Amino acid sequence: MSRPELEAFWMPFTANRQFKSKPRILSKASGMHYWTPDGRQILDAVAGLWCVNAGHGRREITEAVASQLETMDYAPPFQMGHPAAFELANQLVRITPAGLDHVFFTNSGSESVDTALKIALAYHRARGDAARTRLIGRERGYHGVGFGGISVGGIVSNRKMWSASLLPGVDHLAHTHDLAKNAFSRGEPTQGVQLAEELERLITLHDASTIAAVIIEPIAGSTGVLIPPKGYLKRIREICDKHGILLIFDEVITGFGRTGAPFAAQEFGVTPDILTAAKGLTNGCIPMGAVMVRKPVYEAFMQGPENAIELFHGYTYSAHPTACAAGLAALGIYEREGLLTRAKALAGKWEEAAHSLRGLPHVLDIRNYGLILGLELESIPGKVGTRAFEVYTKCFERGLLIRQTADIIALSPPLILEPAHIDQIFSTLREVLQAAA
Ligand SMILES: Cc1ncc(COP(=O)(O)O)c(C=O)c1O
Repeated sequence: MSRPELEAFWMPFTANRQFKSKPRILSKASGMHYWTPDGRQILDAVAGLWCVNAGHGRREITEAVASQLETMDYAPPFQMGHPAAFELANQLVRITPAGLDHVFFTNSGSESVDTALKIALAYHRARGDAARTRLIGRERGYHGVGFGGISVGGIVSNRKMWSASLLPGVDHLAHTHDLAKNAFSRGEPTQGVQLAEELERLITLHDASTIAAVIIEPIAGSTGVLIPPKGYLKRIREICDKHGILLIFDEVITGFGRTGAPFAAQEFGVTPDILTAAKGLTNGCIPMGAVMVRKPVYEAFMQGPENAIELFHGYTYSAHPTACAAGLAALGIYEREGLLTRAKALAGKWEEAAHSLRGLPHVLDIRNYGLILGLELESIPGKVGTRAFEVYTKCFERGLLIRQTADIIALSPPLILEPAHIDQIFSTLREVLQAAA
């Protein structure tokens, strides 16, 4: 495509001018691969953007969506229902952690997060505990780009432009990343459980009676794969329970098999009160998100006159029929092919291959969980992100799609990957990292 043809599209989270001077275009996808318009095959080591968990171009999903479009293209979600919405909600509560048994549908992770925060605030108010208005997020957290999400999120570049317009009454826990103590951890780092006590400190500062909810990603993805220290999530849960604070897990990237269990909550044995999902819900092919809540949260709203709307919230495309069809087909594939737990079987080889890169030039850390990898490189002084971006472009030239954030490389391949793909991913990375010396 010529430069003028690339101008009109203002690309998200992209260096537009750099991209448009040297575009990277993908035009076809199937299984573990993308293809460029000139026919180059690219191995997808990031499941698109942590979402194509069953691999690309799944015929069952295409057929389900086509059939739904032919039967009924759209149905209004307010005061109306359609079968696929109820069916998908039922299927979802079967695989979510026990107790999370009601589902509110959205269209993205950002909408799921803002919905979860609104539900948490409204829950306390509905119970007559209206002083609980504070939300606690975490440094280096990513919760999408809505005003709620960037307020509880902890990424300065996503917040500073809008710093005067963020939600009031938000505070942040410290992040748990500690290279000095935990570099080259395999699985959960051993050091850092005491960081959960930060929550007690914030509660002492603000008083529990003012705090509605704590939101965290069980594994933070967007700021470079931060895996929770052993015992940390359990301790956060205990403190929330002690003080009547709702715990929200943002599982937009950890949901649908990424860690080796359907959700990270099950993997880590900690059940939140509210869980947000998106991405893998439809295998990435139709935008959709979901917020799962525990029964007491739902029940708190089911009061008052039966003919009154209980929650003044929802989207034109909540539970869109095509998204529901895609979701049902995707869940069917995940279950039939055992993809919700397949990461467990591959995690050992993944870990060995990943840690074999230790010792290569500029590699400060390698961390992994399930089918997730974070590889942290030493930044070039004054040029944060330059080194990893070069690795990203060099990998793409060699037929490998990875993800880069600052000087961290994150990998999250489709869960259908085979051992040979693991070999290819890490041999390509090895070559590129060696050449970057
Ligand atoms: C943990 C988390 N929450 C929320 C989001 C936002 O999702 P979306 O981009 O679908 O709005 C993301 C996206 O990467 C995410 O990783």
